[in-house]
Amino acid sequence: MTIEVFAPAKINLTLHVTGQRAGGYHLLDSLVVFADVGDRIWIEPSDQMSLEVTGPFADGVPADGRNLVWQAAELAGYTGHIRLQKNLPHGAGLGGGSADAAAILRNRFGDDVISGVGLERALALGADVPVCMCTQPQRMQGIGEKLSRVGSVPSCAIVLVNPGVCVPTPDVFRLLEQKDNPAMGTVTAGGGFEEFLSFLGHQRNDLERPAGTLAPVIWDVLDALSPSARLFQMSGSGATCYGLYASDAEANMAADHITAAYPDWWVCATRTYGSGPLS
Ligand code: C5P
Repeated sequence: MTIEVFAPAKINLTLHVTGQRAGGYHLLDSLVVFADVGDRIWIEPSDQMSLEVTGPFADGVPADGRNLVWQAAELAGYTGHIRLQKNLPHGAGLGGGSADAAAILRNRFGDDVISGVGLERALALGADVPVCMCTQPQRMQGIGEKLSRVGSVPSCAIVLVNPGVCVPTPDVFRLLEQKDNPAMGTVTAGGGFEEFLSFLGHQRNDLERPAGTLAPVIWDVLDALSPSARLFQMSGSGATCYGLYASDAEANMAADHITAAYPDWWVCATRTYGSGPLS
């Protein structure tokens, strides 16, 4: 029976870089949420592994064992023809191959995914794989392995904007001058959207400046979001930026305006997943 998996976009609503390990990886403190837009994966069981990449962002995605989807399928014990539909820009701060790989592992191991796969093995696939194995809002610390679910995060109307440039994550980290920045504050969102905005308004994405230095079009993206969004910032190491809105109608209208002004950009109005019941 064909397995179908949805890999929602990962968004770093905040991303504080608080240090660097001897090995070079950086210590992070980030509030991560997921949105209702993403890649899709189908695995049709057979006795040989093969991979086909389709969708609007298929260009440049390896269709062999280098792809994290292939490696995750092997870890999960799946063998067959994999079809990966890339609906999201990759190298874009939205999870990319890590989100795809994590979705396969989540499908195979369910809620017990961390013990099923092993945290170390998941982390070895990609630093964002562990956080993407659960689609609830989470605080991510360490180099990506310390995860805690965050309650009371509301579902928000969001607009994602990517200007079509790929900014390599290692290059962005290399340009970051200050590595020991203050940690993220305690997430407060019990009072709903307004309180959540006020919390986010005091946090940062420390990678925004180095990413903007590498790809100045990121400043244009933030400028495009600024007149309409209640809060806007870059996600991950960029170049995708997000804007939060009070309603779906406002998000849709903003997305239409940005698309009209910048027809070559990828612009998507969607919703983030809020905190569900914590088990
Ligand atoms: O693990 P992943 O391949 O997703 O990471 C891509 C690159 O991002 C790493 O090679 C490293 O340069 C940088 N990175 C980092 N600290 C992290 C996560 C990623 O320096 N916590």
